[in-house]
Amino acid sequence: MKALTVTDTELRIFARHVPVRCHQVALDAGCGSGNFSRQLHRFGYDVIALDFAHSALEAARRTPLPGVTYLHHDLDQGDPPGLQYRGIDLVVCRLVLPLLRDPVRWVRRVRDRWLRPGGRMYLVIPVGEHADQFGRMTEQQISALCDGWAKSVRYDLRSTSACLVLRAPRPRWRAGRAKLRHPERLTAGSPMTTRRTSSPPVPRGARPAMPVGP
Ligand SMILES: C[S@@+](CC[C@H](N)C(=O)[O-])C[C@H]1O[C@@H](n2cnc3c(N)ncnc32)[C@H](O)[C@@H]1O
Repeated sequence: MKALTVTDTELRIFARHVPVRCHQVALDAGCGSGNFSRQLHRFGYDVIALDFAHSALEAARRTPLPGVTYLHHDLDQGDPPGLQYRGIDLVVCRLVLPLLRDPVRWVRRVRDRWLRPGGRMYLVIPVGEHADQFGRMTEQQISALCDGWAKSVRYDLRSTSACLVLRAPRPRWRAGRAKLRHPERLTAGSPMTTRRTSSPPVPRGARPAMPVGP
């Protein structure tokens, strides 16, 4: 699948629809050489970036950044080791979904097991006309991805790719909500549970300047 440069237009869409909060955890699924992982870092996220291609990870690690962890993982092989159950604030999957064995099932798994209630999923998907077009999904397949989310927003990027922002549902009952925020955290201290501690404190909710460039 062809790479798609991260443009200012895409970053504006991202910033408008994904609440940016410093030190939240974002997972970049199929990060490639880490272009979008680095943007997430600039927005203030702690980033876990996964890919199954060693060459891509090697390229990504050439630009080390505090709070960005690159891990080898095949998204078709279940959950990454050390995953905080429902502990991720944002999952990004850019130009990867049609390459997975069962994209709809994988997206549901992210919604139900990876994301915290109210967390976001950000997807960029090349659009094709036929169901069997390699590396693309049809409009019908793309709309099936939106089932079961509390909210979905769709944009077109350069008419060839769809950009979806999906919001995970929250539990219906609100009593004791604070206790429920991370109800089933499974592990602590694994690479996937660390939060950045070395950078200067930024007020929670502060919006960092829009990152531009690679
Ligand atoms: C077109 S690149 C997109 C890279 C990056 N997301 C971006 O937006 O620039 C697709 C990436 O997905 C990775 N990928 C494809 N299938 C995967 C899988 N099953 N598990 C992990 N990574 C996968 C590839 O290795 C490749 O780096």
